[in-house]
Amino acid sequence: MMVLGIETSCDETAAALVTDGREIRANVVFSQLDQHAPYGGVVPEIAARSHIEHLDGVIAHAMREGGVGFSDLDAIAATAGPGLIGAVMVGLMTGKAVAGVHNLPFAAVNHLEGHALSARLTDEHLQFPYLLLLVSGGHCQFLAVEGVARYQRLGTTIDDAAGEAFDKAAKLLELGYPGGPAIEQAARDGDAERFDLPRPLKGRPGSDFSFSGLKTALLQKVRDIEGGLNDKDRADLAASFQAAVTDVVIDRGRNAIRQFQTKHPEGQALVAAGGVAANSLLRKRLKSLAEKNGMTLSVPPLALCTDNAAMIAWAGIERLGHNLVDELSAAPRARWPLDVDAPRPPGAGRTGKRGPKA
Ligand code: KG4
Ligand code: ZN
Repeated sequence: MMVLGIETSCDETAAALVTDGREIRANVVFSQLDQHAPYGGVVPEIAARSHIEHLDGVIAHAMREGGVGFSDLDAIAATAGPGLIGAVMVGLMTGKAVAGVHNLPFAAVNHLEGHALSARLTDEHLQFPYLLLLVSGGHCQFLAVEGVARYQRLGTTIDDAAGEAFDKAAKLLELGYPGGPAIEQAARDGDAERFDLPRPLKGRPGSDFSFSGLKTALLQKVRDIEGGLNDKDRADLAASFQAAVTDVVIDRGRNAIRQFQTKHPEGQALVAAGGVAANSLLRKRLKSLAEKNGMTLSVPPLALCTDNAAMIAWAGIERLGHNLVDELSAAPRARWPLDVDAPRPPGAGRTGKRGPKA
């Protein structure tokens, strides 16, 4: 079975060809980074217009790279949300059009489900249930992944997502966009002990997150430095910030593992997905956290951690394998939680200005 996956929920225009034998025949990602960088974040209108301009070419590129024609496809999977609504609509409508014209089954995939199942594309031994840490620019949550289309949210952020916090911190430190890789790079030469930053919610029960206080504390430290920041200050602030975020994720992770193991004592894996899972300090500490708790850490390769269409094609394959076929009337959705029954975390407020990037 060969599936064409399409992803346009935020600022990556992506198409991929994946088989049910876990072969990635093509995985093409056109990043709009340069178009959004001057604004320090994703501009929804620019994103949607750029998807329209590039998606046809990106799909053609993937088909050429995979050496297949439309008649070789068995199904189409496209992201239907959550995300920037104009952006989502471009990929979803294109996917529907291809499915309609070629009379193929269609999967309207939740972008978060793409991230949640991506580790199974490259790790054939990864069995359900597993504990997922989804850390990206728009999401920061722990989920028990019990099976395809069966997700229980254990904890989530009450304000910013971890990636969003990295991006805002990088902006404050004038390190550029996207912030995560820039902070990680700057932190390499930094002293993580120099600045004492808070660890929001650390030591509290549950596995919810909060990052907005940390961002404000960082702003205060920046203001306290007289005469502006030099490179050493930037490196030390970046290192201190990265250490604080990582400490919080590990503390919350400890509780999430307890929550998960109570319900699923047979579960053996901790999976980290989403752009922030690219962070090497976080990966290192998650690995030791997993091992201390008798679990293994599974992280998809970098290209499948950040937004891509191979994970959407794979989620489509998993869904179609469970006869979860969608109508061509499937609607685009700006908000679309994986666990619709999850209670809102205590004190939950706005999720930040950046919008529902997943
Ligand atoms: O999953 P993703 O590509 O897009 C969505 O948000 O869906 O994640 C992007 C986020 C950005 O906020 C970026 O700053 C963060 O992931 N990120 C990182 C690193 N690489 C990307 N954060 C920390 N360390 C990194 N190395
Ligand atoms: Zn994402």
